[in-house]
Amino acid sequence: MTQDKKYVALVTGATGGLGTDMVKQLIRDGYTVAANYRSPQKAEAWQAALKAEGYEPHLFQADVSDYESVGQMVAEIEAELGTVDILVNNAGITRDGAFKKMTPENWDAVMKANVYSVFNCCRHVINPMIEQAYGRIINISSVNGQRAQFGQCNYAAAKAGMHGFTKTLGIEVARKGITVNTISPGYIATDMVMAVDEAVRAQIVKGIPIGRLGGTYEIAHLVSFLASKEAAFITGANYAINGGQHVY
Ligand code: CAA
Repeated sequence: MTQDKKYVALVTGATGGLGTDMVKQLIRDGYTVAANYRSPQKAEAWQAALKAEGYEPHLFQADVSDYESVGQMVAEIEAELGTVDILVNNAGITRDGAFKKMTPENWDAVMKANVYSVFNCCRHVINPMIEQAYGRIINISSVNGQRAQFGQCNYAAAKAGMHGFTKTLGIEVARKGITVNTISPGYIATDMVMAVDEAVRAQIVKGIPIGRLGGTYEIAHLVSFLASKEAAFITGANYAINGGQHVY
């Protein structure tokens, strides 16, 4: 990939399993990376670990489920680093449980962290992207937004909603040099997946034709591709990356 300027990439939920490898990959690709985090305690240790490996992302705190908090963060990024050229909406949570017992709190928390966050971040970066006639937006959804997973009515609704959003925003900004795409990872070896009961997880892995969990670096590699200038003709697309667990 060639870069004619130092582009600024914002990764939300950067300190998580997927986010960490995305940040490293984007730094290796030559981007200035703004790494969003929510919890200061975790972020400090995370930054120190990355620094020890030679990576220097710029940290920005915000609760992505809160519109004002995101607005403040984007203003800080613009002042310190410049316009956000690449936005990776990666932050997300699960609150799994059978629907018959699902609380309104667990519904709201998942909708806010996974899909309101996409509105909040996109809304704050889209006009500067339109003004400069360039941008890349990558929404990290899930195989479970495409297929059914027992215990995830809230998460599936949010993740399917993300791709509905991608498709429409994609066509709205298609003539402005901005692409909007979804990546739908399957089961990747992150803390979120490792928190699933071991027996349930083993059953899920049996249903993955490639026969293993995905690696975080495999998602980062796809993010890198979609973030590139050369991916300009890809918009409104959903990239499944799930080891064959769900093919359609
Ligand atoms: N299939 C069918 N029935 C199931 C079931 C399943 N997988 N799991 C539970 N049940 C049944 C139970 O037998 C029980 O039946 P009765 O009411 O008749 O007794 C009923 O459903 C309720 O069971 P529980 O009380 O155990 O349900 P729960 O509310 O505690 O939730 C669960 C169960 C913990 C959600 C469990 O189903 C589970 O772990 N599912 C997997 C969730 C999962 O894959 N999460 C992915 C997290 S990672 C991620 O999301 C990243 C990504 O993008 C891929």
